[in-house]
Amino acid sequence: MKEKFYLILAQNSAQMLLINKLLKKEGIQTDLVPAPPESGTVCAVAIKVNGDYLEKSKSLITKNKIEIINIYEDKKMKLQGLIDKKLGLSVTKTFLNILKKIENGENFLEEEIIYLLSTKNKKEIDGIYAAADKIRKETVGNVIEIRGAIEFSNYCRKKCKYCGINSQNKIKRYRMNEKEIMEVVKYLDKIGMRTIILQSGEDYGWGIRRLTELVKNIKEKTRMRITLSVGEKSFKDYKNLKKAGADNFLLKIETTNRKLFELIHPDGNFDLRLKCSKWLKELGYINGSGNIIGIPDQTIQDIANDILYFKEMGINMIGIGPFIPARGTPFENIPHGDVNLTLRTIAVTRIVCKKVYIPSTTALASLDKHAQVQALKAGANTIMLISTPEKYKSDYKIYNNKNMIDIDAAIYASEKTGIQLPAYLKV
Ligand code: 5AD
Repeated sequence: MKEKFYLILAQNSAQMLLINKLLKKEGIQTDLVPAPPESGTVCAVAIKVNGDYLEKSKSLITKNKIEIINIYEDKKMKLQGLIDKKLGLSVTKTFLNILKKIENGENFLEEEIIYLLSTKNKKEIDGIYAAADKIRKETVGNVIEIRGAIEFSNYCRKKCKYCGINSQNKIKRYRMNEKEIMEVVKYLDKIGMRTIILQSGEDYGWGIRRLTELVKNIKEKTRMRITLSVGEKSFKDYKNLKKAGADNFLLKIETTNRKLFELIHPDGNFDLRLKCSKWLKELGYINGSGNIIGIPDQTIQDIANDILYFKEMGINMIGIGPFIPARGTPFENIPHGDVNLTLRTIAVTRIVCKKVYIPSTTALASLDKHAQVQALKAGANTIMLISTPEKYKSDYKIYNNKNMIDIDAAIYASEKTGIQLPAYLKV
């Protein structure tokens, strides 16, 4: 097998999916990945194939009368300047080797990721954060992506033990209607927001028809990209939502350790969660995932495997947050996850996954108000503004003492880090 990979770009998403199917049917291994920035914004995804199969893929595509717009080499990212002469004196050989791998854009082994997550050597820790910061700058630029999140319902059918809005918890429930949601959507559009996130519990009251209509309506009235975060659905439902205009989907794996997953999700099914993520990718969604740091019994090895999973699945948005106890849940007395380990996980995820979106999560900011800034210096590049209307937002209590991140928090973070706010935002 060649080490080289290529990205094939067609006219639109529908054709990309067609090509993907076609090549897969012929036994060619493909991967849907975010399109390279130099390709413009015509199509959000590209198809990645191994160099050995490039010619065969090209001829299959043209034989099927699909036009190829462009082909890019998927270049390994090379970095320079991580290692200076003096460094060798204060860090281990293992660490130096890992830094060399980072500089050469090579892939990492599980034990190397574990090393990066657990080293206590101050110089090494500084080196990890510096590398992550550099890679963030090189891959996604010196801009904080801003997204507006509307938490439109806190009804949920699930029993996730950590989550404050799980169906067993006696909390005040709310469900926004179309008119209320559209008001926020129009406001976010007006201030120049490019992507909105619609998040809710798994709410029967917002069935697939209703949700599909909402997505269509938003697409008709605005030009924003739509990210859905509404949980597990059938392949058909995901397909209809995509057709209606949804662009991205956030469905966190939470943990890739099957036993842990089952422990924290008494009515969950690990295989189904995996399957949902694969369906989303197959359907051409830009796929979001993530994990929780500090689940009882979680080990560093578990976290390393989460990171490898994000990499292997080609996950594009990776939300990493500390566990925070939520009142009234089975986990209410379990201590919160470690802020430093969460920051380290963000940094290592940036180093391993490179060109991805990593939010500086609300959960981090909820534990420590400086952590949002620290995360942006450790490889994160996105801030989610909580754009749920005032009268509802305190009821979206997935955990205690949620920090209501607003535009002022984003401005503050930008000033503190020197990472710019996007020019398109009119604030
Ligand atoms: N602590 C941390 N994260 C939580 N989430 C839900 N409950 C908690 C909690 N108690 C996260 C999950 C979910 C996202 C919407 O919120 O990762 O995917």
